[in-house]
Amino acid sequence: MTRAPLTAIELLPGPAHVALGNAIAQQLGLAPLSRSLERTPDGEMLVVVDERARGRNIAIVQPTPAPVGEHLLELLMLADACWRLGAARITAVIPYLGYARQDRRSRSGEALGSSVFASALASAPLQRVLVVDPHNAGVEGGFSCPVESLSAVPLLARAVEHVLTTDCVIVAPDLGATKLAQHYAQLLKKPMAIVHKQRLGPSEVFAERLIGDVRGRQPVLVDDMISTGGTIAAATEILLAQGAKAPAVVVATHGLFAPPAAERLGALPIAKVLTTDSVPAPAETSPVHERVGIAPLLADALRNAQRYERL
Ligand code: R5P
Repeated sequence: MTRAPLTAIELLPGPAHVALGNAIAQQLGLAPLSRSLERTPDGEMLVVVDERARGRNIAIVQPTPAPVGEHLLELLMLADACWRLGAARITAVIPYLGYARQDRRSRSGEALGSSVFASALASAPLQRVLVVDPHNAGVEGGFSCPVESLSAVPLLARAVEHVLTTDCVIVAPDLGATKLAQHYAQLLKKPMAIVHKQRLGPSEVFAERLIGDVRGRQPVLVDDMISTGGTIAAATEILLAQGAKAPAVVVATHGLFAPPAAERLGALPIAKVLTTDSVPAPAETSPVHERVGIAPLLADALRNAQRYERL
C-alpha cells in the first residue's frame, strides 16, 4: 500500500477533553490547531477546522466518555472536516474508548454496541486509531484501520508504588481484569488474588468468591475502569470479609465516576484511588482520588508513529 509522504504532525484537541489535547500538543512542542463547533438552532453540529490542517498529519484527541454518542459524532465531524480540507493522514487518539464493554451479547435481541461503535469509526477517513487500555484487547478486530493499544499500567504502577505496604496483594476485582492484574503484579513484584464477580445489572454486581490468599495483606485493586464503582465496592467488601487488611488501594486506567461511584467508594476504607486523566475530571469523585497525566505517553506514541511514518 502506498503511504502519504511524511509531513509534520498537527494536534487537534476535540471538545471531549481539550485539556488533554493541549497537554499532548505541549509535550510535542506544537501550537494546537483551532476549530469551532457550533450548534444550529435545532441542535445539529456545525464543525469548522483550522486551515493549517491542509496537507498535514492530523492527530485528533477525543476520548468518548458520556455523552458517548455526542463525543463520537464530534470526532466523526472533525475527521470529516480535516479530510475535506485535504489533511494527508488522520489519527484518532481515543484514550478512553466507549462501548468497548459491549463486546458480546448477554441476551437475545441485544445490539452489539462495540461493533456499532467500531463501524461508525470505520466510516470516518481515519488511517490509525490510538487507544489506552481498552476494555477488550481484541478491539482491533472491529476496525478497518490499524488500532494501536497503549498501556498506562507501567505509569500507574510507578505512581502507586510508594504508598504500598510490603505485604500488599494485587487483586483483580473480576475475571476480566486478570491479565491487567498479572501485569501489575509482575511490575510491582507482588502476589495476586482474583475476585469472581457476577453482574446483576448495569450498576449492580455481586462478588461470589475469592481465589488467592489475602489474609493480613493490604489489597490493591486494579481494573481498566471505574464506572459506577459497583465492581470495586463489591470486591473490597469480600476482601475485607476474608481478612484483608484495610485500607485498600484502588488503581484504574479510566476514572469515569458515574453516580453513585463517589458515594460507594467514599463509604469504604480506601487510602487512595489512582486513575489517569484519560477522561475529564469527574464532577463528583472520591476525596482520595488522584490522577496521573497520560499526555507524555500519548505524545511519545505519536512521535514514534511519526518517526516510522506510521501516523
Ligand atoms: C467490567 O468488566 C470492567 O472491567 C469494569 O470492572 C467495570 O466496567 C466497572 O464498572 P463499575 O464501576 O460500574 O462496576
